[in-house]
Amino acid sequence: MQITIIGAQGQLGQDLMSSLAADGHQLTGLTHQQVSIEDATSIAAALDQSSPELVINTAAYNKVDQAESEPEIAFVINALGPRLLAQYCHQHNRRLLHVSTDYVFGLEGLREPAYKETDAPGPISVYGQSKLAGEYFVRSICPQHYVVRTCGLYGKAGKTRNGNFVETMLRLGKERDELSLINDQHCTPTSTRDLSTAISRLITTDQFGLYHATSSGQTTWCEFAQTIFELTGINVQTKPIPTEEYQAAAERPRYSLLDCSKLEKVTGYAFPHWKQALSTYLESTE
Ligand SMILES: NC(=O)c1ccc[n+]([C@@H]2O[C@H](COP(=O)([O-])OP(=O)(O)OC[C@H]3O[C@@H](n4cnc5c(N)ncnc54)[C@H](OP(=O)(O)O)[C@@H]3O)[C@@H](O)[C@H]2O)c1
Repeated sequence: MQITIIGAQGQLGQDLMSSLAADGHQLTGLTHQQVSIEDATSIAAALDQSSPELVINTAAYNKVDQAESEPEIAFVINALGPRLLAQYCHQHNRRLLHVSTDYVFGLEGLREPAYKETDAPGPISVYGQSKLAGEYFVRSICPQHYVVRTCGLYGKAGKTRNGNFVETMLRLGKERDELSLINDQHCTPTSTRDLSTAISRLITTDQFGLYHATSSGQTTWCEFAQTIFELTGINVQTKPIPTEEYQAAAERPRYSLLDCSKLEKVTGYAFPHWKQALSTYLESTE
């Protein structure tokens, strides 16, 4: 299939470029320098040239705390950008895969079980609201869409570019004697390599719609960091703290587990457990 990936230098973008090329697709990877998703002229110029059957949008404004003080920018990139892409794809009869986030949830606080695609969202941050608006635009404008919600991404590109939680912990674990880590936000961090595998399966189906896609199992940021230190032999004291003790501009969900059974049923792909995925990532980036 002829596929154009927007955000090709990002964590997910880079792993998608590798896994979709390995599956034999013809790829065009667009960097931020080559396309700005908030600019209709830029989208048309880039997509008219690459002429894909499927557009994958991994580009986003991901600065969760900074979004609280610049909501206009977050909404322009995360909501109006996907709207323009959806309009272009619908007008040109192209498919669109758009990536979203578990941060569209949070309003319910602590709850169980994991969220299904049919559960009502309730974002509690500007970032979450802007991403939810982007989802709605894609779903309402472009019928041939896949919207894929995921959580806590880490991929190789985070080592050299915008960073990720794993790389931050590896750095801080070596710099500090003790780290305070939030222990009451329940989620499932996900490797972009595994997410790319799931996406590569999904796009071979005609099962358009909304999907949840994360590693399996559940953890907290504190337990996730402790596991990073255990697996890499980094000796640092960890202090579990409640969310209230960590000053952050944006509120984060206390519980944002995503039920991925719909994706598994449609694609046959079962995500590995988060510990297994983390271990694979750490081995591959050594
Ligand atoms: N990271 C997470 O923990 C996480 C969790 C849940 C969901 N998600 C979602 O997953 C997707 C992929 O995330 P990621 O971690 O791979 O992101 P990433 O590493 O930050 O990559 C995003 C890429 O998009 C580019 N970009 C940013 N703004 C753009 C714009 N206006 N027009 C065109 N390109 C632009 C960036 O380029 P520059 O860096 O050069 O600006 C970057 O290369 C996003 O939709 C994100 O919201 C991420």
